Parts: sequence; structure tokens; C-alpha cells
Amino acid sequence: MKAILVGFMGSGKTTVGHLLAKKLNIPYHDLDDMVIEKAGKPIKQIFAEDGETVFRQLEHEALEEALNGEGILGTGGGTPIQDVNFEMLKDSEVPVVLLDVMPETIMSRLKNNQDRPLAKQLGLDGLVDLKGQRDARYEQVSDFRVATDELTPNEVVETINKNL
Ligand code: S3P
Repeated sequence: MKAILVGFMGSGKTTVGHLLAKKLNIPYHDLDDMVIEKAGKPIKQIFAEDGETVFRQLEHEALEEALNGEGILGTGGGTPIQDVNFEMLKDSEVPVVLLDVMPETIMSRLKNNQDRPLAKQLGLDGLVDLKGQRDARYEQVSDFRVATDELTPNEVVETINKNL
């Protein structure tokens, strides 16, 4: 992998990941999509039918596979929070980039998205709490951070590219 993107739901990992991969002419891999493929069903259905623990196990397996691949990897918002994944990301030689974003921006981006069971379960206040609990972990796992609130996706890509 050339770079791994981490950050909370709605931080733009998928959008930025696609653009960055295109710019560098390398493939983009999305961990959520790998989990969907493994399970053969959408994330909200995995949560509903099998539970979060099964989702996390599939996510961990997908991360293990993805780390050996090439390109840009977009993780899920909860990926680096699992200890086993945190250690794998820390131990890898690949630069880990934190896309940071203010809660207000996240909420406006997630409002119309139906496929995030956690966002639905927790509501706005719950999401702000969850982000607060996770922020230190995102900081610790990453090699550098880009504050994305005031930037367009292309500007985020430029900033990352300069730092790789
Ligand atoms: C999750 C984030 C989601 C997805 C799942 C759980 C989380 O990914 O992996 O719904 O725990 O924050 P995105 O960050 O791509 O939305």
C-alpha cells in the first residue's frame, strides 16, 4: 500500500481515496466494500442479522488481506479502534493519514446516508460522543493529519500527496 486513510464516518475517506488513487494512477481499495463482498450483503444487513462482532471480525480479515496489496486503502471509521487492527496499522511501513473533520460537518454529510447502522443507532449526540472517544486513537495511529473542513476533496488530495 502507498497510503492508508483513517478517520471518522463522513470524513471523506472514500471520496479522497478514489481521487488520490486516480492521481497516482494506482488502485483504490475500500475496506467496507471488501467486507460487503466477503459477507455477500450490505453493512446494515450484517449488523442487523449477524451483529457488530461478526462485522468486526470480517473487517479485521479484510484489513489483513488488504495490507499486502497495492494502492490506496480507505478504512472504516471503526477499523483502527480495534486493538488488533491498531497494532497492525502501527506496525506497517505504510503512511497512515488521518482525515479529520468537525462533528458539524460529519452530521451534515451523514444525514442522507442510510447504510451506516451506527449513525442511525446513536443519533447526533451519540456520534459526537463516539468521535470524542475515538479521536485520541485516530491521532495515535496516524503519521499525519489533514483537517478537511475548509478544503475541497482535491485540496485534501494535494495536501496528502505533498506529505507522502
Ligand atoms: C463504522 C464506519 C463505517 C462502517 C461501519 C462502522 C464505524 O465506515 O465500517 O458502518 O464504526 O465508525 P465509514 O467510516 O466508511 O462510514
